Amino acid sequence: MSKKLVPIVHCSLIWYCLSMPILSISDETIRQAAAHIVRGGIVAFPTETVYGLGADAFNPGALAMIFEIKNRPRFDPLIVHIAALGALEKIADLSMLDNDTRKKLDALTEKFWPGPLTLILPKQQTVPDLATSGLPTVAVRLPSLASARQLIALSSGAVAAPSANPFGCLSPTSARHVLATLGGKVEIILDGGPAQVGLESTVLDICGGQPRILRPGGVPKEAIEAVIGPLAENTASGGAVTGPGMMKSHYAPRASLEAHDMETLLETPVEDKCAFLFFDGASRDKWLKKRKPPQDTLIKVLSETGNITEAGANFFQSLHELDKPELCRIYAQFAPKEGLGAAINDRLQKASRI
Ligand code: TXA
Ligand code: MG
Repeated sequence: MSKKLVPIVHCSLIWYCLSMPILSISDETIRQAAAHIVRGGIVAFPTETVYGLGADAFNPGALAMIFEIKNRPRFDPLIVHIAALGALEKIADLSMLDNDTRKKLDALTEKFWPGPLTLILPKQQTVPDLATSGLPTVAVRLPSLASARQLIALSSGAVAAPSANPFGCLSPTSARHVLATLGGKVEIILDGGPAQVGLESTVLDICGGQPRILRPGGVPKEAIEAVIGPLAENTASGGAVTGPGMMKSHYAPRASLEAHDMETLLETPVEDKCAFLFFDGASRDKWLKKRKPPQDTLIKVLSETGNITEAGANFFQSLHELDKPELCRIYAQFAPKEGLGAAINDRLQKASRI
């Protein structure tokens, strides 16, 4: 590098570092981010599921900015995040619930909050229509990541936050994922390391008759049924509430993705420039024995030992790593159907363009 170029490179490096919106998480940066939310700003922040794009849930101007930054249709409602159970009644009108539903709500919050469960409840009139897309209901979540609760408590006490990705794209499980797709649009990105659960929260509707899952996620159906009994089938799929959880193509990488069970993958011809994402190491080994792919074939595994929690935590990270422009197709193996596998398979189906 020429001597003349060195100061220029240094200057732009310093400028780049100063303008980088990523702040490592600490009491100080959380305070800074909370003040930004109070002023009507937008902050990307970690939760145990995925990174969220947060704004004061009671500030319509800030909510409008979230939709704009994400390029998200306004008919798709947001989740309101609270920092403590005591804040629930500010967001949801619990007086509208019958006794049985009230008991179910108490049992669910006792067992799963804080954690990756979002509850659909009747909304308080004070919650802006923009947050709920005009619905009479509101989605509420109490995250388990302590730094997320600290941020919410120090800002407005109610932070509306969708996942911090452009609408329809892969969800972010690290600050780098947010920077890569929304950098330049968000002033502050708090970096709390990789998201532990790695899959979005389970969205459970408990105010429309028999409870039903609208989006499978971090709390498995079986665990919910163990607490409140059988859930209704989700008949709203592709129907009434049109949100990302319910849209056919969503959570998608740029390369086209096909999800299959192992039997089909073993028969699938291996093209040039394609990648494979296996659920476990044993499946990969079985496939390698039979298929003998070209050397440049990208191969990833969600969990070597087939641990479903680990697979969930690695899911979006693996898809981000495989999301390369030079790849023409990603073949993914479905996870086992039970537990968190339902959420992984739901995301694979929605990312799949076939
Ligand atoms: O884990 C998560 O839930 C993350 C983190 C940041 O908390 N958030 C997240 O938000 O995934 P988002 O906006 O990407 O997904 C929220 C889902 C959408 O499918 C939306 O349609 C649904 O919740 N939703 C929100 N309010 C609703 C309502 N009142 N009725 C039915 N579905 C609703
Ligand atoms: Mg999302």
